[in-house]
Amino acid sequence: MNILIFNGSPRKGGNTELLLTSVAAGIEQSGFRAEYIRLADLAIHPCIGCGHCEREGHCIFADDMTALYAAIEAAHRIVLASPIYFYGVTAQTKIFIDRCQVLWSRKYLLSERKAYRDDLRGYMVSVAATAGEKIFAGARLTIRYALDAMDCPLSGELLVKEVSDKGAVAGKPEIMAEALQLGNEICRPD
Ligand SMILES: Cc1cc2nc3c(=O)[nH]c(=O)nc-3n(C[C@H](O)[C@H](O)[C@H](O)COP(=O)(O)O)c2cc1C
Repeated sequence: MNILIFNGSPRKGGNTELLLTSVAAGIEQSGFRAEYIRLADLAIHPCIGCGHCEREGHCIFADDMTALYAAIEAAHRIVLASPIYFYGVTAQTKIFIDRCQVLWSRKYLLSERKAYRDDLRGYMVSVAATAGEKIFAGARLTIRYALDAMDCPLSGELLVKEVSDKGAVAGKPEIMAEALQLGNEICRPD
């Protein structure tokens, strides 16, 4: 099973990273290994809306995103994680998502949808400093539709409120246990 974990937090040793480490441990517990991709380490040019992918199915930019298209198309599970920045995802996450317009175009404009991908699943992981009722609403919509473009419908989520300082989530063992459990759930075959 090909499992991709995308971390959209730019903060090294931050809460998203800690949660994802636990998710990856749960995946390993289940006998699988995930490929971990830290978006802040990659050079990904922002989408310029030129429309090339809508006609041709590929992007005019050749950068670190190029290899990710193939990895996404070969993935069975995708975890897309971002902390909340101004009620949305981080800039690094959004640049990556916008470049997934290539996948959206292939699927919805160029009819390259693949029936055999029906068993694929996507997951959202997020953290926020505050506790507002709608704190994850914007990011959830963005991530839901990004995962849909990747053919991995949103099938589960771990959303953690009231975690602000770097690494603070490590002090919440029940949350870390939930992350481990999510790793197990991701590997469930059906
Ligand atoms: C630029 C910026 C914007 C933020 N905006 C919000 C916000 O709108 N709501 C919120 O609850 N937390 C907000 N936060 C707090 C982060 O979501 C929080 O610190 C989170 O734990 C960071 O995760 P990380 O350690 O994985 O990077 C913001 C933080 C930064 C740096």
